[in-house]
Amino acid sequence: MTIARSIILVADDDAMKDAVVNAVDHVESLSLEVREGTLASINGSAVNLLNEHDLMVFRLLDRNDIDLVRSLRKQAGPSGKLLALSDENISLSDARALKKSGLDEILPFPISSDELSEQLDRLSTPSSMLPAIYTKSDPERNGQVIGICPVRGGAGSSTLAVNLADQLQGRSGIFRKHTRNRVAVVDLDMQFGTIATGLDLAPSNGIYKMARDGVIPDRTFLRQCLVSHSSGLDVLTAPDEFVPLEAFSREQITALVDALRQEFDYVVIDLPRVMIDWLGAIVSSCDRLLLVTDTAVPSIRQAHRLIQFFSQERLELPLEIIVSHETKPLFPAGHHSEAERVLGRKIRHWLPYDPRHAKMALDRGQLLSKAAKGSALSKAIRALSGKILAEKPDVAAAKNRNTV
Ligand SMILES: Nc1ncnc2c1ncn2[C@@H]1O[C@H](COP(=O)(O)OP(=O)(O)O)[C@@H](O)[C@H]1O
Ligand SMILES: [Mg+2]
Repeated sequence: MTIARSIILVADDDAMKDAVVNAVDHVESLSLEVREGTLASINGSAVNLLNEHDLMVFRLLDRNDIDLVRSLRKQAGPSGKLLALSDENISLSDARALKKSGLDEILPFPISSDELSEQLDRLSTPSSMLPAIYTKSDPERNGQVIGICPVRGGAGSSTLAVNLADQLQGRSGIFRKHTRNRVAVVDLDMQFGTIATGLDLAPSNGIYKMARDGVIPDRTFLRQCLVSHSSGLDVLTAPDEFVPLEAFSREQITALVDALRQEFDYVVIDLPRVMIDWLGAIVSSCDRLLLVTDTAVPSIRQAHRLIQFFSQERLELPLEIIVSHETKPLFPAGHHSEAERVLGRKIRHWLPYDPRHAKMALDRGQLLSKAAKGSALSKAIRALSGKILAEKPDVAAAKNRNTV
């Protein structure tokens, strides 16, 4: 059933009016009234207009609009949604202030006609008619964000990311069907990401959309882009199409991490092996940073460079060294102590060289817990997740720092 809905557009800009008229044309049972002006100029009649329509769309002009939105929301109550179209680059703090003041959505303008139609359709639909995916009733979780950072290609960081995420779900019960935690795994290795293939999932275009439209992601956007895996994990895959890494701003990545943190108990992010500005957004906000390396001299040098790069962002790095492709030795060899000395940290965890089982899982597009549960690699990742589940991140960081 489609119900009749109406939109009021307040704009003084012809391009914006044309775009909204055109977008409304493509949505069934949606009517449009246009009011020439700005939110400030129609101030006296804004409350009535909002009460008479399902959605008010207006052109965002400046910070004064934050106060106007707040007073409008106060007087009109919860009925009628508010959408701002902004042709300026708006800062994350202004976007937050607007949302806090009662705005339902901010979209960049110009915007593709399809996207605008989709958003007008969604926002003009009364909440009670929306599928559960749009409802905001889920509590915020304030989860733990774990960045996985490879020192060199092929070190096994993506393998660690997905299988650690899987273990952090904390399965229990006879068929291990109950999970204690909601966990997301995010592939921010946007150009060479392998997580979708490794889990036999079709990639979603969320990250691509973020880059193309400059979307500042929120919980609703996130829910539209996450792909569910049969293991219970939610996955944000790398895009199918090529996306330049510079296409993302720190603001977008910060918002992405914030939204993920609200939605999940644990968020595991597979990072690219490049030093790009927006990595700083992850470094400064994550709870743990797991650096995956081997103990060969070039890798340790590279690890050292990465730590220096990250330290410019955050003084007290919550960084833990994970040595991959090596079993923990009974007695540390000279090069292990040397590595710890250079990196200024103890080696936190070891992942054994287990190519047979790693390959078996990869070939089948399965998690290690399914393809090779008893393998040495699976056990080692389970042990690491056990440590993470058991202790607070700041305790781990304190343990690692300056102990060499
Ligand atoms: N501990 C391991 N021992 C042996 N091979 C591994 C291990 N971890 C991963 N691999 C294999 O190494 C290759 C690269 O792994 P991947 O996790 O994609 O590394 P990265 O993301 O660091 O490039 C894959 O073929 C994978 O199956
Ligand atoms: Mg990888």
